[in-house]
Amino acid sequence: MDGSIEKSKIQTLYEACSLVFSQKEPPSFQQIQWLKNLLGIFEAKDVGIDEFGICGSPSSSQNENKGQICVQSISEITYIHIHECDDFSIGVFCFPAGGALPLHDHPGMTVFSKVLYGSVYVKAYDWVLKVDTSSSTSKTLGLASRVREEIIMRAPCETSVLYPTSGGNIHSFTALTPCTILDVLTPPYSDDLGRPSTYFSLFPLSSLPDYVVLEERDLPEDLVVRGAPYMGPQIDAGHDFC
Ligand SMILES: [Fe+2]
Repeated sequence: MDGSIEKSKIQTLYEACSLVFSQKEPPSFQQIQWLKNLLGIFEAKDVGIDEFGICGSPSSSQNENKGQICVQSISEITYIHIHECDDFSIGVFCFPAGGALPLHDHPGMTVFSKVLYGSVYVKAYDWVLKVDTSSSTSKTLGLASRVREEIIMRAPCETSVLYPTSGGNIHSFTALTPCTILDVLTPPYSDDLGRPSTYFSLFPLSSLPDYVVLEERDLPEDLVVRGAPYMGPQIDAGHDFC
C-alpha cells in the first residue's frame, strides 16, 4: 500500500472544470472532449444518489443507501447544488417519472449534461432570429429552429453538450422514468450579469415544421423545483482557480 487516497470523480471533474473554464478563451475541441469523457464515467452513486433504494424502507435504513438521496422516493423535481463559482456551476437534477422542466434557455452558456439514471424526453431549439428586448420591457420573442428530432436520452448514454448559439441552447425535459441528470454550466446563470433563466411558450409553424416561434413566459406556476443537500464526496476547493 502506498497510502495514497484515490481522488473522487467529482473532485477530478471540479479540478478539470477549474482548469478549463478559468482560461479567458472558449474551451478547445480537445478540452470539451476531455470534460465529456470525465462526465461519461459518472454513475448516480458518485454524487451521493441511490438509484435503486427507497429511502425510509426497512432495508434502506440499515445498509449502504443510508446518507444518500434516493431517486425512487422523489416526488418533485429536485436540484442538488454541488458547486458554483464565477466560471461554472455543477449540480444534479432529479426527476420523478412525468416531471417536466419546460422550455428554457441558457444565455451565453455552454452546458454539459450526463443522464446518470433513467430516461428523459428532450426537445431542443436554437435561435435563428431573436428580437432584442434588452432595452425595453417587452418579452423576448423570436424564431427558433429544431436542433434535431425529439430524442430520448436513456442511461447509460453519452454526455450531451449545448453551446451559446448551437446544439440546442433552448430545451425542455420530460422524465419518462425517475431519472437523474448531472449538469455542468459555464458560465453559471446570473441575473446580475445578464444571464437569467427565461422560460418560453412555443408556437409551431405549420408551413415550416422545423421552425417555431418562441415567446418569453412567466415562470410556470405549476413548476416546483425543490432543493436537497448534496450527499456525495466533498470537493476540496483548496486549489480553487475561481
Ligand atoms: Fe437546461
